Amino acid sequence: MSALGATTSPAHPPRFLPWPRTLFARLAVILFVGIALAQTLSFWITMTERDQSMTNVMVGYVEREVTSSVALLDHLPPAERAEWLPRLARRSYQFILGPGESGTPLDAALSERFAKSIADGIGKRYPLTVNAVPGDAERMQVHLRLTDGSPLTIDMHPMVGTPLSAWLPLVLAGQLVLLAACCWLAVRIATRPLKQLAEAADTLGPDLKATRLPEHGPDEVTRAAKAFNAMQDRVSMYMTQRMQILAAITHDLQTPITRMRLRVDTMDENPAGLRLQQDLQEMETLVKEGVTYARTLHGTTEAPLRVDSDALFESLLNDYLDAGKVVSLKGSIGGTMVTRPQALRRIVGNLVDNALKFAGAAEIEIGGLPDGGASIVVLDRGPGIPAESLEAVFEPFVRLEGSRNRQTGGTGLGLAIARQLTLAMDATLTLHEREGGGLEARLVVKA
Ligand SMILES: Nc1ncnc2c1ncn2[C@@H]1O[C@H](COP(=O)(O)OP(=O)(O)OP(=O)(O)O)[C@@H](O)[C@H]1O
Ligand SMILES: [Mg+2]
Repeated sequence: MSALGATTSPAHPPRFLPWPRTLFARLAVILFVGIALAQTLSFWITMTERDQSMTNVMVGYVEREVTSSVALLDHLPPAERAEWLPRLARRSYQFILGPGESGTPLDAALSERFAKSIADGIGKRYPLTVNAVPGDAERMQVHLRLTDGSPLTIDMHPMVGTPLSAWLPLVLAGQLVLLAACCWLAVRIATRPLKQLAEAADTLGPDLKATRLPEHGPDEVTRAAKAFNAMQDRVSMYMTQRMQILAAITHDLQTPITRMRLRVDTMDENPAGLRLQQDLQEMETLVKEGVTYARTLHGTTEAPLRVDSDALFESLLNDYLDAGKVVSLKGSIGGTMVTRPQALRRIVGNLVDNALKFAGAAEIEIGGLPDGGASIVVLDRGPGIPAESLEAVFEPFVRLEGSRNRQTGGTGLGLAIARQLTLAMDATLTLHEREGGGLEARLVVKA
């Protein structure tokens, strides 16, 4: 993929890190990791500082103690020295009367500091040699000779500070838990209004009756909720106004059209009068269909009813048969279903009208679905619709070339109205090329 390709594909931006998709997770990660790192850093600084000051105190203490102990041992008669040794020993060092062990030069940092401070304390009076004791990184021995020439060794195991208290890790874990809880709470407070807003916008369907957002909470949230609710009201008001204008125009147009038709009727039979009559007829249909489409756009107000499904289609069939149309009905759904009968009749009616108009005959096949829904298929053996136009014909006022040239009439709103009604009913309507020629319109109604 080229570099340009990578930057221009918004759906899949190049991702180097497994960065979470949700805002919730992103904010939570940033907050938690950030605060936890800061916390660790300050813990580390405190511990380092504690170690350093403890070392300073210890080194000073060891220097003074060793100085006075060596002075004491030097003044004692050689015979009494041995019994003083246990009393002069400390946690990190003890005295040995003798040359001690020899070894390698010092290499541990802490040992060096202790050696230096002992040298500062007693090095001027007693020449010292210091060496590490092999096998233990921080163990060393200081060798010197007392004034009477007898050897003395200070065996040291420098230690710093005191070990961490056992409860400290527990407190740290507690802090982390508290931190995680606070992060979760903060992020939830910040992202919940967004989720609610998205849900409210999702439910803003054709009937424009979205759930209203609660107008309380933090200032920013209240403002966004108020703005959203106001926008919803405005959209709904504009739509209603438009509907009313359209309905008023249609209503008022009908009167002049009727008057014109009466006048044309009284005119002498001539070709021009006949054509005028056809035009007026077309105008009337357009006006009626237009207002129906506008109404379906605005959402259907019909309440769902429990109806006998097979009876509904039989009565539809009979209406067509009575009008002398070639329509057949096959299959059965059985039982009752909850649906909007008028909308359903209108959808199937529009499909059958198309089949009759373009093929001269229509077949209706109905059947129940395993999930309790129903499928209604309207078939014909007419010219059909090319595959690339199967979706386009659902757009309002779209009529294919072939049908425009023929004297089929129509406004191109039939399928658009059917599609709007199926959307409002939560059903699906699709067109397919029928095997062997013709069109197959498939309506699936959910249980
Ligand atoms: N059964 C069919 N066979 C062939 N073409 C069809 C069929 N049904 C629809 N079409 C094509 O789809 C177009 C749109 O259909 P639609 O029902 O929306 O409009 P219409 O039938 O032309 O007019 P109206 O239904 O508003 O009177 C039609 O003009 C026609 O070209
Ligand atoms: Mg039609």
